[in-house]
Amino acid sequence: MSGFVEKPKPAEVPGLVHLHTGKVRDLYRNEAGELVMVATDRMSAYDWVLPTEIPDKGRILTQLSLWWFDRLADLVPHHVLSTELPPGAPADWAGRTLICRALDMVPVECVARGYLTGSGLAEYRQTRTVCGLALPEGLEDGSELPSPIFTPATKAAVGEHDENVSYEEAARQVGAETAARLRQATLAVYSRAREIARDRGIILADTKFEFGFDDGDLVLADEVLTPDSSRFWPADSWQPGRPQPSFDKQYIRDWLTSPAAAWDRHGEQPPPPLPDEVVERTSAKYAEAYERLTGVKWAAGA
Ligand SMILES: Nc1ncnc2c1ncn2[C@@H]1O[C@H](COP(=O)(O)OP(=O)(O)OP(=O)(O)O)[C@@H](O)[C@H]1O
Ligand SMILES: [Mg+2]
Repeated sequence: MSGFVEKPKPAEVPGLVHLHTGKVRDLYRNEAGELVMVATDRMSAYDWVLPTEIPDKGRILTQLSLWWFDRLADLVPHHVLSTELPPGAPADWAGRTLICRALDMVPVECVARGYLTGSGLAEYRQTRTVCGLALPEGLEDGSELPSPIFTPATKAAVGEHDENVSYEEAARQVGAETAARLRQATLAVYSRAREIARDRGIILADTKFEFGFDDGDLVLADEVLTPDSSRFWPADSWQPGRPQPSFDKQYIRDWLTSPAAAWDRHGEQPPPPLPDEVVERTSAKYAEAYERLTGVKWAAGA
């Protein structure tokens, strides 16, 4: 068992049709046939949607994605059409709602890694490979890779693990031409973003993109380069050979697996509610990631 403890009800907004409740985002279609994507404050970890929300998180993710989309637009077109609130939408949707091109999504999570950690490290320790790509000997948790690699994963249904696959397997699923375009776009966007982050003292260790097609155009979709989709490490404390401090979800993961949470992530029980202190620290980490990257102070509730 995993996924939602209780699936939230979609909002009823005149002119909008509810399409999907993702772990974090609610999707609607407007009368023009565009996608209305609302980033909630839901938090997912270990394939569960946690029972406690992180105030303002959806706004931070949305504003950070917009900031990045602007800086990547010359490399690949993105899906955002406008940030205008649909008439009659709940006031709380302000700052967290994007009107997007409704795409035919490619069912592959496009991961770029410049550093070794997480599921990549686990595979490397077994076989010296990541997604079947051979890597040099002697790498540790947090090591920089000789060059960034494209490590696709197949997208899981709510409550299931995404699964790392080889490039060849991804190409079998989506076709050789699409796979090549995904790899090229993923590595181009990762490389640009990594330079931008590095200038701000942040290591972009890895990140996940989703792409979709609109009339044959490959379009960058979903959220981009947020603490939910990426591992951000402060550059000044980077030290391979141990887990890195980070601006992302790692803090929540660490708490959930600590004795304080008294929770078995491999068991049947849903995760426990988060203590206030964990909520506040997580909120602060998301805001800090936004501020360090954009150089703009996060105005809570704005
Ligand atoms: N432009 C787009 N057109 C169509 N679908 C999109 C677009 N951008 C993002 N999506 C989809 O919207 C959903 C975003 O919701 P969210 O991030 O909460 O989902 P998730 O937890 O990653 O996955 P799931 O939807 O399976 O729960 C994803 O399924 C993503 O593939
Ligand atoms: Mg998502």
